[in-house]
Amino acid sequence: MKIAVLPGDGIGPEIVRQAVKVLNALDEKFDMETAPVGGAGYEAHGHPLPEGTLKLALEADAVLFGSVGDWKYDKLDRPLRPEQAILGLRKNLNLFANLRPAILYPELAGASTLKPEVVSGLDILIIRELTGDIYFGQPRGVRECPDGPFKGSREGFDTMRYSEPEIRRIAHVAFQAAQKRGKRLTSVDKANVLETFQFWKDIVTDVHKEYPDVQLDHMYVDNAAMQLVRAPKKFDVIVTGNMFGDILSDAAAMLTGSIGMLPSASLDANNKGLYEPSHGSAPDIAGKGVANPLATILSAAMMLRFSLNKAEQADRIETAVKKVLAQGLRTPDIYEEGTTKVGTEEMGEAVVKAL
Ligand code: IPM
Ligand code: MG
Repeated sequence: MKIAVLPGDGIGPEIVRQAVKVLNALDEKFDMETAPVGGAGYEAHGHPLPEGTLKLALEADAVLFGSVGDWKYDKLDRPLRPEQAILGLRKNLNLFANLRPAILYPELAGASTLKPEVVSGLDILIIRELTGDIYFGQPRGVRECPDGPFKGSREGFDTMRYSEPEIRRIAHVAFQAAQKRGKRLTSVDKANVLETFQFWKDIVTDVHKEYPDVQLDHMYVDNAAMQLVRAPKKFDVIVTGNMFGDILSDAAAMLTGSIGMLPSASLDANNKGLYEPSHGSAPDIAGKGVANPLATILSAAMMLRFSLNKAEQADRIETAVKKVLAQGLRTPDIYEEGTTKVGTEEMGEAVVKAL
């Protein structure tokens, strides 16, 4: 089994190193090959997604991704910025289904900024469509405004669009995920204002006919944002478009108080996937050895489960992570009085030991 390892920028390399260590500690042989991506890709080959990196990702059975981005690249033209690497990988690998679980580990209940009774036991799954919507819709750009009161002045514009097959395939993923969990699905839209999302709602409603055992409801995105903070445990699985999913998944991650703990998977139709922590590259703490590697280690577990058919090994990693939390080991982002503060490397070692 071939794994493309793309550490990227900021804390990416140090957290991915720990996940690789954990994978190597399993009694399995993986063929892991590393390539530069994001700012690192730009430095090495003048492009955030170098040809060789894309080729490796296409050939591999799965991609283990760190994070990309650094303020120092903000002045580059958009196509050369680090973020284009992750967007390019999603598009080229057809990774349309993004799974972002938000789970609150009981040991970390105090880390949330919300009252413990609102979040304790939280276990929700956000499924974000990842290759459509306003993120990729053409046309887009800056042009001379063709109509309305500002006709003739410059305007920036993007296009929100979703085709029927795109909505159907993500709806199927969501209904099937709900079937394996609490059998409740909330489809988030903005059907009261946007044509694209009225269409979304109609298609999801139609797909629901094939999943009568799942309870479906629809919610406007503004209300969903409010409900996520008010009573997040009422949700089971949420499915939504690319942009709403981007925003809601950050909010959901922060409910747990520890975005450094949350993995994610981006899958194609055949369960080939890219696995990355839900957090970003955190350039402010890069290289200091304090970043939390657990989200990346848990992403490696998701990779074993979804793409490599090694559910047992995935369970082992997840159990090991729970064990180190129970031992009281904490990186600074999740540190509380009475626990033991450790660095990136020590945390990785502890997971290996717990395995
Ligand atoms: C995410 C990130 C990306 C996105 C950026 C880095 C392009 O915010 O994965 O949520 O907007 O999808
Ligand atoms: Mg985001």
